[in-house]
Amino acid sequence: MPRVLLTSPLPIEIGPLLDGHELVGGDRRLSRDELLGAVADADGLVCLIGDRIDDELLARAPRLRVVANYAVGLDNIDLAAAARRGVAVTHTPDVLTEATADLAFALLLAAARRVIEGDALVRGGGWTGWEPWQILGAEVHGATLAIVGMGRIGRAVARRARGFDMRVIGVTSREGSVDEVLPQADFVSIHCPLTAATRGLIDARRLALMKPTAVLVNTARGPIIDEDALVRALAAGRPAAAGLDVYAAEPQVPETLRRSPRVVLLPHLGSATVGARTRMAELCATGVRDVLAGRRPPNLVTNA
Ligand code: DGY
Repeated sequence: MPRVLLTSPLPIEIGPLLDGHELVGGDRRLSRDELLGAVADADGLVCLIGDRIDDELLARAPRLRVVANYAVGLDNIDLAAAARRGVAVTHTPDVLTEATADLAFALLLAAARRVIEGDALVRGGGWTGWEPWQILGAEVHGATLAIVGMGRIGRAVARRARGFDMRVIGVTSREGSVDEVLPQADFVSIHCPLTAATRGLIDARRLALMKPTAVLVNTARGPIIDEDALVRALAAGRPAAAGLDVYAAEPQVPETLRRSPRVVLLPHLGSATVGARTRMAELCATGVRDVLAGRRPPNLVTNA
């Protein structure tokens, strides 16, 4: 019976979806060392974005035929090494698109309208009544939104923005196009994958191209923004605010960001709805089952 290793509990039991397979793990989060040991006799692996699937790990998994990433992003996996070693890789596109776009919009609205500061004022008992100058934010409707990366999630954010009568400028992560839109945008939302080309894409120079009133939102991957440069830029007041769901070295979040009242910080919640996380688990099961049965799964990234 093919053996499938889970590196973490999932929101649903995938055992019933993997009938005829022996499931190992899944009762707790495995450490890197535990994973390096346990993968030795696995035919399939279901892993999280926090699991680094690199050549060292693949070398210890002679039986491995499929890695099912419980995520759409693939930057935790050495795809070339997997292909070289004949290991198929699957991911979870589509099923988390709308949930992630919703969260990007939640961050955009919360940062623009200073929702966290307002909440803190009320909770802290410091609110003394309506005042003309209290916690004034930026208008969202009618504003210009630059979306960097017009893939599935970027396009879903654009659809939401149209409901707010926003002017949407979608750009790819290519050098020139980003430079052109940054000075025009009231909001910038990042939706490109993390690759060698997009690492550090939003650096000090590009942050300086943004309007001083602009809001930067990132629900993609932390290292796309130069985090140190962002900390300095926010301190200098350009951009004015940020909404962040992802960080350069998760789960670490720089103290300066945690102290900044103009930054809304979430713990990588983009796909965190029951529906999305359930469908992600189902897609992982599909990927494992199909590859181990010799079929091509619909969510295949790299073929063996
Ligand atoms: C992804 O899918 O890549 C997210 O970051 C986690 O859902």
